[in-house]
Amino acid sequence: MAAKKVSSAIPMAISMLVFVLGVGVVAAKSKKEKLCTKGWECKASVYCCNQTISDLFQVYQFENLFSKRNTPVAHAVGFWDYQSFITASTAYQPQGFGTTGGKQMQMKEVAAFLGHVGSKTSCGYGVATGGPLAWGLCYNRELSPSKSYCEDSYVYPCTPGVEYYGRGALPVYWNYNYGTVGKELKVDLLSHPEYLEQNATLAFQAAMWRWMTPIKKKQPSAHDVFVGNWKPTKNDTLAKRLPGFGTTMNVLYGDLVCGQGSADSMNNIISHYQYYLDLMGVGRELSGDNLDCAEQQAFNPSAEKSSSS
Ligand SMILES: *[C@@H]1O[C@H](CO)[C@@H](O)[C@H](O)[C@H]1NC(C)=O
Ligand SMILES: *[C@@H]1O[C@H](CO)[C@@H](O)[C@H](O)[C@H]1NC(C)=O
Ligand SMILES: *[C@@H]1O[C@H](CO)[C@@H](O)[C@H](O)[C@H]1NC(C)=O
Repeated sequence: MAAKKVSSAIPMAISMLVFVLGVGVVAAKSKKEKLCTKGWECKASVYCCNQTISDLFQVYQFENLFSKRNTPVAHAVGFWDYQSFITASTAYQPQGFGTTGGKQMQMKEVAAFLGHVGSKTSCGYGVATGGPLAWGLCYNRELSPSKSYCEDSYVYPCTPGVEYYGRGALPVYWNYNYGTVGKELKVDLLSHPEYLEQNATLAFQAAMWRWMTPIKKKQPSAHDVFVGNWKPTKNDTLAKRLPGFGTTMNVLYGDLVCGQGSADSMNNIISHYQYYLDLMGVGRELSGDNLDCAEQQAFNPSAEKSSSS
């Protein structure tokens, strides 16, 4: 519309515009291949042509969020880096990870995912320099496991001599979980759980898979509840499960974190998410509705876990 007024002045620009619009129409019609020129993300995904994670989350931001991870007292010095995060994400961006809903939602999802990661891998404590929230990605494994996390399993039997303690960015515990993730990522983690503490790309991939995948069929993923893909059922509403960051904790941790009132375990995850929102320039005032899960019932109560394995 506005273009008309200036059309005589810049005919070239107008013809370019027409050309671009023309391509847009073609792209909308042909489901197979979208004609935009951004690379891998434009092959067969509805997220094609949207900004990618590396467009809005750059290396300096990663360094800000995890500023203490390579200090001498950290426990995974030199392990975690921006490039492994980005490389891992290329498998999930075409599914909508960090590419859904426009720039603000995309940045919020990165902050939410990394908020979980940061809180689970933090070695920060009350008096740590830089504050307790500056210490995400300090670990890549559980340091003093109290057991070997091996449970009898027909599908995913433990490999003799191997221990299944927590490893990774959203730590994986137990043989059956290593078995499941390994199968999904096509890496033999049941024989080699140590890969998750040796390969940061793989560690991030395992965490992104967890974020993007429902625990059970017909349940939402953490991604779905966060970006608004999920519509709560009547049961969900009665159980106080509503779209937002709070329910991502329910998906990932159930009643270990949720339905316990204002518990430290819950508040710590929320604090990391909000700290990252601030550092990324989004701001915690955009944390979104339903930030906590203090009153939520778990999707999968832990009493159920022992009978379902
Ligand atoms: C792509 O980005 C636009 C605008 O930034 C957004 O409105 C749209 O929802 C995104 N597409 C998908 C599939 O999320
Ligand atoms: C680390 O894992 C990634 C993703 O699975 C894989 O592509 C890469 O080859 C691995 N790197 C090494 C050194 O094994
Ligand atoms: C709703 O919750 C009730 C009680 O927990 C359960 O019996 C029922 O199967 C649930 N319905 C759905 C659709 O999940």
